[in-house]
Amino acid sequence: MNILAFESSCDETACAVVSAEDGLFKIKSNTVASQVDIHRLYGGVVPEIASRAHTEAISRITYEALDVAGVTLRDIDLVAVTANPGLIGALLVGVSFAKALAVRYGIPLVGVDHIKGHIASAYLKDGRAPAAPQIALVVSGGHTAIYRVNSLNDVRVIGTTRDDAIGEAFDKIGRIIGIPYPAGAGFDALAGEGFVKTVGEGEGYFKRFRKSEIYKQGELALPSPALRDGTLDFSFSGLKTAAINLIHRYEMRGDELPRAEFAARYTYEAVEAVYTKLKEALSYEENADCEMILAGGVAANSHLRARLGELAREMRRKLTVADRSLCGDNAAMIAVAGFYEYERGRIQDSSLNASALDGIV
Ligand code: KG4
Ligand code: ZN
Repeated sequence: MNILAFESSCDETACAVVSAEDGLFKIKSNTVASQVDIHRLYGGVVPEIASRAHTEAISRITYEALDVAGVTLRDIDLVAVTANPGLIGALLVGVSFAKALAVRYGIPLVGVDHIKGHIASAYLKDGRAPAAPQIALVVSGGHTAIYRVNSLNDVRVIGTTRDDAIGEAFDKIGRIIGIPYPAGAGFDALAGEGFVKTVGEGEGYFKRFRKSEIYKQGELALPSPALRDGTLDFSFSGLKTAAINLIHRYEMRGDELPRAEFAARYTYEAVEAVYTKLKEALSYEENADCEMILAGGVAANSHLRARLGELAREMRRKLTVADRSLCGDNAAMIAVAGFYEYERGRIQDSSLNASALDGIV
Protein backbone atom coordinates (compact mmCIF):
# COMPACT_ATOMS: atom_id res chain seq x y z
CA MET A 1 0.00 0.00 0.00
CA ASN A 2 1.03 3.63 -0.54
CA ILE A 3 0.87 5.90 2.50
CA LEU A 4 0.77 9.69 2.16
CA ALA A 5 1.86 11.26 5.45
CA PHE A 6 1.98 14.75 6.95
CA GLU A 7 3.95 16.22 9.84
CA SER A 8 3.44 19.79 11.08
CA SER A 9 3.78 19.59 14.88
CA CYS A 10 6.57 22.13 15.25
CA ASP A 11 8.77 24.00 12.79
CA GLU A 12 9.02 21.63 9.81
CA THR A 13 6.25 21.16 7.28
CA ALA A 14 6.75 17.66 5.94
CA CYS A 15 5.05 15.33 3.49
CA ALA A 16 6.12 11.85 2.40
CA VAL A 17 5.01 8.88 0.36
CA VAL A 18 6.04 5.52 1.83
CA SER A 19 5.09 2.10 0.54
CA ALA A 20 4.38 -0.80 2.90
CA GLU A 21 4.47 -4.32 1.47
CA ASP A 22 4.79 -7.46 3.61
CA GLY A 23 6.13 -5.49 6.57
CA LEU A 24 8.75 -3.79 4.42
CA PHE A 25 8.70 0.02 4.31
CA LYS A 26 10.20 1.97 1.43
CA ILE A 27 10.47 5.74 1.20
CA LYS A 28 9.28 6.93 -2.21
CA SER A 29 9.55 10.61 -1.34
CA ASN A 30 10.25 12.62 1.78
CA THR A 31 9.97 16.40 1.49
CA VAL A 32 10.60 18.78 4.36
CA ALA A 33 10.09 22.56 4.30
CA SER A 34 12.08 23.81 7.26
CA GLN A 35 11.19 27.05 9.01
CA VAL A 36 14.39 27.34 11.03
CA ASP A 37 15.60 30.39 9.08
CA ILE A 38 12.45 32.26 10.14
CA HIS A 39 12.50 31.21 13.81
CA ARG A 40 16.25 31.81 14.11
CA LEU A 41 15.51 35.56 14.04
CA TYR A 42 13.66 35.12 17.35
CA GLY A 43 16.01 32.57 18.96
CA GLY A 44 13.29 29.90 19.09
CA VAL A 45 10.00 28.73 17.59
CA VAL A 46 7.22 31.35 17.51
CA PRO A 47 3.99 29.28 17.42
CA GLU A 48 1.81 31.69 15.42
CA ILE A 49 4.52 32.21 12.82
CA ALA A 50 4.95 28.42 12.62
CA SER A 51 1.21 27.91 11.90
CA ARG A 52 1.24 30.52 9.15
CA ALA A 53 4.35 29.07 7.54
CA HIS A 54 2.80 25.57 7.58
CA THR A 55 -0.31 26.95 5.88
CA GLU A 56 1.81 28.54 3.15
CA ALA A 57 3.97 25.44 2.55
CA ILE A 58 1.69 22.42 2.91
CA SER A 59 0.01 22.43 -0.48
CA ARG A 60 3.28 22.95 -2.37
CA ILE A 61 5.17 20.22 -0.52
CA THR A 62 2.29 17.77 -1.04
CA TYR A 63 2.50 18.20 -4.81
CA GLU A 64 6.27 17.86 -4.54
CA ALA A 65 6.07 14.64 -2.50
CA LEU A 66 3.56 13.08 -4.95
CA ASP A 67 5.65 14.22 -7.91
CA VAL A 68 8.94 12.81 -6.62
CA ALA A 69 7.22 9.52 -5.71
CA GLY A 70 5.71 9.39 -9.21
CA VAL A 71 2.17 8.81 -7.91
CA THR A 72 -1.12 10.70 -7.86
CA LEU A 73 -3.70 10.94 -5.07
CA ARG A 74 -5.57 8.08 -6.75
CA ASP A 75 -2.62 5.77 -5.97
CA ILE A 76 -2.75 6.57 -2.24
CA ASP A 77 -4.27 3.91 0.05
CA LEU A 78 -3.84 5.63 3.42
CA VAL A 79 -3.43 9.20 4.71
CA ALA A 80 -1.50 9.55 7.98
CA VAL A 81 -1.06 12.76 9.93
CA THR A 82 0.60 13.79 13.19
CA ALA A 83 -2.29 14.58 15.56
CA ASN A 84 -0.39 15.00 18.86
CA PRO A 85 1.64 16.22 20.71
CA GLY A 86 2.93 19.57 19.46
CA LEU A 87 1.99 23.20 18.92
CA ILE A 88 -1.77 23.14 18.57
CA GLY A 89 -2.05 25.71 15.77
CA ALA A 90 0.75 24.01 13.85
CA LEU A 91 -0.77 20.54 14.27
CA LEU A 92 -4.17 21.78 13.10
CA VAL A 93 -2.76 22.83 9.73
CA GLY A 94 -1.62 19.27 8.96
CA VAL A 95 -4.70 17.63 10.47
CA SER A 96 -7.14 19.87 8.57
CA PHE A 97 -5.28 19.42 5.29
CA ALA A 98 -5.06 15.64 5.69
CA LYS A 99 -8.75 15.37 6.59
CA ALA A 100 -9.77 17.41 3.57
CA LEU A 101 -7.73 15.20 1.22
CA ALA A 102 -8.96 11.96 2.82
CA VAL A 103 -12.60 13.00 2.62
CA ARG A 104 -12.36 14.39 -0.92
CA TYR A 105 -10.63 11.27 -2.32
CA GLY A 106 -12.29 8.70 -0.05
CA ILE A 107 -8.97 7.51 1.41
CA PRO A 108 -8.78 5.99 4.94
CA LEU A 109 -7.26 8.39 7.48
CA VAL A 110 -5.23 7.77 10.64
CA GLY A 111 -3.96 10.16 13.32
CA VAL A 112 -0.41 9.53 14.55
CA ASP A 113 1.39 10.22 17.82
CA HIS A 114 4.56 12.19 17.01
CA ILE A 115 6.67 10.19 19.48
CA LYS A 116 5.61 6.90 17.93
CA GLY A 117 6.68 8.50 14.67
CA HIS A 118 10.18 9.12 16.05
CA ILE A 119 10.39 5.49 17.23
CA ALA A 120 9.25 4.38 13.77
CA SER A 121 12.07 6.39 12.14
CA ALA A 122 14.41 3.65 13.39
CA TYR A 123 12.26 1.05 11.56
CA LEU A 124 13.27 2.73 8.31
CA LYS A 125 16.91 1.83 8.97
CA ASP A 126 16.43 -1.72 7.62
CA GLY A 127 12.99 -1.03 6.19
CA ARG A 128 11.29 -3.14 8.83
CA ALA A 129 10.68 -3.17 12.59
CA PRO A 130 13.56 -4.51 14.68
CA ALA A 131 12.80 -7.60 16.77
CA ALA A 132 10.41 -6.81 19.62
CA PRO A 133 10.43 -5.90 22.44
CA GLN A 134 12.63 -2.82 22.33
CA ILE A 135 13.76 -0.17 24.78
CA ALA A 136 13.55 3.11 22.87
CA LEU A 137 15.18 6.39 23.81
CA VAL A 138 13.49 9.35 22.16
CA VAL A 139 15.44 12.59 22.51
CA SER A 140 14.19 15.74 20.82
CA GLY A 141 13.55 19.44 21.31
CA GLY A 142 10.40 18.68 23.28
CA HIS A 143 10.96 15.15 24.63
CA THR A 144 13.42 13.01 26.53
CA ALA A 145 11.93 9.68 27.44
CA ILE A 146 12.60 5.96 27.61
CA TYR A 147 9.90 3.62 26.32
CA ARG A 148 9.31 -0.08 26.47
CA VAL A 149 8.02 -0.95 22.99
CA ASN A 150 6.28 -4.32 22.75
CA SER A 151 5.03 -3.25 19.34
CA LEU A 152 4.22 0.19 17.96
CA ASN A 153 0.68 -0.48 19.20
CA ASP A 154 1.89 -1.19 22.72
CA VAL A 155 4.30 1.52 23.89
CA ARG A 156 4.80 2.30 27.58
CA VAL A 157 6.83 5.19 29.00
CA ILE A 158 9.22 3.94 31.71
CA GLY A 159 11.32 7.07 32.24
CA THR A 160 10.98 10.72 31.30
CA THR A 161 12.22 14.22 31.98
CA ARG A 162 10.36 16.00 34.73
CA ASP A 163 11.04 19.42 33.19
CA ASP A 164 13.12 20.45 30.14
CA ALA A 165 13.95 18.19 27.22
CA ILE A 166 17.56 17.46 26.30
CA GLY A 167 17.24 19.32 22.97
CA GLU A 168 15.89 22.36 24.72
CA ALA A 169 18.85 22.19 27.13
CA PHE A 170 21.25 22.25 24.15
CA ASP A 171 19.32 24.99 22.34
CA LYS A 172 19.04 27.36 25.34
CA ILE A 173 22.64 27.10 26.53
CA GLY A 174 23.89 27.08 22.94
CA ARG A 175 22.15 30.39 22.39
CA ILE A 176 23.84 31.90 25.47
CA ILE A 177 27.29 30.91 24.21
CA GLY A 178 26.56 32.30 20.75
CA ILE A 179 25.40 29.31 18.69
CA PRO A 180 22.42 30.20 16.46
CA TYR A 181 19.07 28.37 16.85
CA PRO A 182 18.69 25.39 16.72
CA ALA A 183 21.99 25.01 18.53
CA GLY A 184 22.15 21.17 18.63
CA ALA A 185 24.43 20.59 15.66
CA GLY A 186 26.72 23.54 16.50
CA PHE A 187 26.93 22.38 20.12
CA ASP A 188 27.81 18.88 18.91
CA ALA A 189 30.73 20.21 16.85
CA LEU A 190 31.99 22.56 19.59
CA ALA A 191 31.86 19.75 22.18
CA GLY A 192 33.83 17.60 19.71
CA GLU A 193 36.60 20.25 19.73
CA GLY A 194 36.46 20.28 23.54
CA PHE A 195 36.79 16.51 23.84
CA VAL A 196 39.74 16.46 21.41
CA LYS A 197 41.49 19.31 23.27
CA THR A 198 41.01 17.53 26.59
CA VAL A 199 41.60 13.85 25.84
CA GLY A 200 42.50 13.56 22.15
CA GLU A 201 40.72 11.56 19.50
CA GLY A 202 39.78 7.89 19.40
CA GLU A 203 37.31 5.51 20.93
CA GLY A 204 36.35 5.59 24.59
CA TYR A 205 36.86 9.33 24.95
CA PHE A 206 33.98 9.58 27.41
CA LYS A 207 35.78 7.41 29.95
CA ARG A 208 39.05 9.30 29.41
CA PHE A 209 37.23 12.64 29.78
CA ARG A 210 35.96 11.68 33.24
CA LYS A 211 39.54 11.00 34.35
CA SER A 212 40.93 14.22 32.83
CA GLU A 213 42.37 17.11 34.83
CA ILE A 214 39.73 19.50 33.51
CA TYR A 215 37.00 17.21 34.82
CA LYS A 216 38.65 16.80 38.21
CA GLN A 217 39.50 20.50 38.67
CA GLY A 218 35.82 21.27 39.09
CA GLU A 219 36.06 24.69 37.40
CA LEU A 220 33.52 23.51 34.83
CA ALA A 221 31.59 21.25 37.22
CA LEU A 222 27.95 20.64 36.30
CA PRO A 223 25.30 18.40 37.90
CA SER A 224 24.01 15.20 36.33
CA PRO A 225 20.44 15.31 34.93
CA ALA A 226 19.97 11.65 35.97
CA LEU A 227 17.73 11.71 39.05
CA ARG A 228 18.96 9.58 41.95
CA ASP A 229 15.57 8.54 43.27
CA GLY A 230 15.22 4.99 42.01
CA THR A 231 13.29 6.06 38.89
CA LEU A 232 14.40 6.24 35.26
CA ASP A 233 13.56 9.97 35.22
CA PHE A 234 15.66 13.03 34.36
CA SER A 235 15.75 16.71 35.19
CA PHE A 236 17.52 18.85 32.61
CA SER A 237 16.54 22.21 34.11
CA GLY A 238 19.09 21.79 36.93
CA LEU A 239 21.89 21.24 34.39
CA LYS A 240 20.73 24.29 32.44
CA THR A 241 20.55 26.57 35.50
CA ALA A 242 23.95 25.42 36.75
CA ALA A 243 25.41 26.14 33.29
CA ILE A 244 23.93 29.66 33.29
CA ASN A 245 25.44 30.31 36.75
CA LEU A 246 28.80 28.97 35.60
CA ILE A 247 28.80 31.25 32.54
CA HIS A 248 27.90 34.25 34.79
CA ARG A 249 30.77 33.44 37.15
CA TYR A 250 33.21 33.63 34.24
CA GLU A 251 31.65 36.91 33.10
CA MET A 252 31.80 38.49 36.55
CA ARG A 253 35.46 37.56 36.95
CA GLY A 254 36.14 39.02 33.53
CA ASP A 255 37.51 35.65 32.39
CA GLU A 256 36.88 34.16 29.00
CA LEU A 257 34.78 30.96 29.08
CA PRO A 258 36.67 28.02 27.56
CA ARG A 259 33.71 27.42 25.21
CA ALA A 260 34.80 24.12 23.70
CA GLU A 261 35.75 22.51 27.01
CA PHE A 262 32.52 23.82 28.56
CA ALA A 263 30.46 22.37 25.67
CA ALA A 264 32.26 19.04 26.12
CA ARG A 265 31.50 18.98 29.86
CA TYR A 266 27.86 19.95 29.29
CA THR A 267 27.48 17.29 26.60
CA TYR A 268 29.22 14.76 28.81
CA GLU A 269 26.69 15.28 31.62
CA ALA A 270 23.67 15.21 29.29
CA VAL A 271 24.80 12.10 27.39
CA GLU A 272 26.06 10.25 30.47
CA ALA A 273 22.69 10.76 32.16
CA VAL A 274 20.77 9.02 29.38
CA TYR A 275 23.50 6.35 29.13
CA THR A 276 23.12 5.62 32.87
CA LYS A 277 19.31 5.43 32.83
CA LEU A 278 19.23 3.32 29.68
CA LYS A 279 21.74 0.92 31.18
CA GLU A 280 19.55 0.68 34.27
CA ALA A 281 16.46 0.02 32.15
CA LEU A 282 18.25 -2.71 30.20
CA SER A 283 19.45 -4.40 33.36
CA TYR A 284 15.91 -4.96 34.66
CA GLU A 285 14.99 -8.62 34.40
CA GLU A 286 11.83 -7.92 32.40
CA ASN A 287 13.92 -6.07 29.79
CA ALA A 288 16.57 -8.77 29.44
CA ASP A 289 15.38 -9.66 25.94
CA CYS A 290 15.04 -6.06 24.67
CA GLU A 291 16.92 -4.58 21.74
CA MET A 292 17.62 -0.81 21.73
CA ILE A 293 16.37 2.07 19.62
CA LEU A 294 17.69 5.63 19.51
CA ALA A 295 15.58 8.28 17.76
CA GLY A 296 14.54 11.96 17.78
CA GLY A 297 16.28 15.16 16.69
CA VAL A 298 19.01 14.88 19.33
CA ALA A 299 19.77 11.31 18.15
CA ALA A 300 21.79 13.08 15.44
CA ASN A 301 24.31 13.99 18.17
CA SER A 302 27.60 12.27 17.38
CA HIS A 303 28.65 11.90 21.04
CA LEU A 304 25.32 10.36 22.05
CA ARG A 305 25.50 7.93 19.11
CA ALA A 306 29.05 6.92 20.04
CA ARG A 307 28.28 6.47 23.74
CA LEU A 308 25.13 4.41 23.16
CA GLY A 309 27.12 2.31 20.70
CA GLU A 310 29.46 1.51 23.62
CA LEU A 311 26.44 0.70 25.80
CA ALA A 312 25.06 -1.68 23.20
CA ARG A 313 28.40 -3.53 23.09
CA GLU A 314 28.65 -3.61 26.89
CA MET A 315 25.11 -4.93 27.31
CA ARG A 316 25.30 -7.16 24.20
CA ARG A 317 22.13 -5.71 22.71
CA LYS A 318 21.44 -4.72 19.16
CA LEU A 319 21.09 -0.95 18.78
CA THR A 320 19.11 0.52 15.90
CA VAL A 321 19.77 4.21 15.41
CA ALA A 322 17.62 6.24 13.05
CA ASP A 323 19.50 7.57 10.01
CA ARG A 324 20.75 11.10 10.70
CA SER A 325 18.53 12.38 7.88
CA LEU A 326 15.45 10.91 9.63
CA CYS A 327 16.26 11.97 13.22
CA GLY A 328 14.66 15.41 12.87
CA ASP A 329 10.96 15.83 12.23
CA ASN A 330 9.85 14.28 8.93
CA ALA A 331 6.75 12.68 7.46
CA ALA A 332 8.30 9.34 6.41
CA MET A 333 8.37 8.30 10.07
CA ILE A 334 4.73 9.37 10.42
CA ALA A 335 3.81 7.14 7.48
CA VAL A 336 5.39 4.11 9.17
CA ALA A 337 3.68 4.82 12.51
CA GLY A 338 0.46 5.44 10.57
CA PHE A 339 0.68 1.96 9.07
CA TYR A 340 0.48 0.46 12.57
CA GLU A 341 -2.57 2.60 13.41
CA TYR A 342 -4.20 1.31 10.24
CA GLU A 343 -3.23 -2.26 11.08
CA ARG A 344 -5.02 -2.07 14.41
CA GLY A 345 -8.07 -0.52 12.77
CA ARG A 346 -7.89 2.98 14.24
CA ILE A 347 -9.35 4.64 11.16
CA GLN A 348 -10.52 8.18 11.81
CA ASP A 349 -13.28 10.21 10.23
CA SER A 350 -13.47 13.95 9.71
CA SER A 351 -13.97 14.45 13.45
CA LEU A 352 -10.23 13.75 13.99
CA ASN A 353 -8.83 16.56 16.11
CA ALA A 354 -5.32 17.67 17.07
CA SER A 355 -4.08 17.74 20.65
CA ALA A 356 -1.11 19.59 22.11
CA LEU A 357 -0.76 17.00 24.85
CA ASP A 358 1.44 13.98 25.35
CA GLY A 359 -0.20 10.64 25.80
CA ILE A 360 0.72 7.58 23.82
CA VAL A 361 -2.29 5.28 23.29
O1 KG4 B 1 12.85 15.86 16.77
P1 KG4 B 1 13.12 17.28 16.43
O2 KG4 B 1 13.44 17.65 15.02
O3 KG4 B 1 11.92 18.20 16.87
C1 KG4 B 1 11.17 17.97 18.00
O4 KG4 B 1 10.26 17.08 17.95
O5 KG4 B 1 11.48 18.64 19.00
O6 KG4 B 1 14.33 17.74 17.39
C2 KG4 B 1 14.90 19.02 17.30
C3 KG4 B 1 16.03 19.12 18.32
C4 KG4 B 1 16.54 20.54 18.50
O7 KG4 B 1 16.59 20.83 19.89
C5 KG4 B 1 17.95 20.46 17.91
O8 KG4 B 1 18.86 21.39 18.50
C6 KG4 B 1 18.32 19.05 18.23
O9 KG4 B 1 17.14 18.32 17.93
N1 KG4 B 1 19.47 18.55 17.45
C7 KG4 B 1 20.63 18.16 18.03
C8 KG4 B 1 21.51 17.81 16.98
N2 KG4 B 1 20.84 18.00 15.79
C9 KG4 B 1 19.59 18.45 16.11
N3 KG4 B 1 21.00 18.09 19.33
C10 KG4 B 1 22.23 17.66 19.60
N4 KG4 B 1 23.14 17.32 18.65
C11 KG4 B 1 22.82 17.36 17.33
N5 KG4 B 1 23.73 17.00 16.40
ZN1 ZN C 1 10.05 15.58 16.86
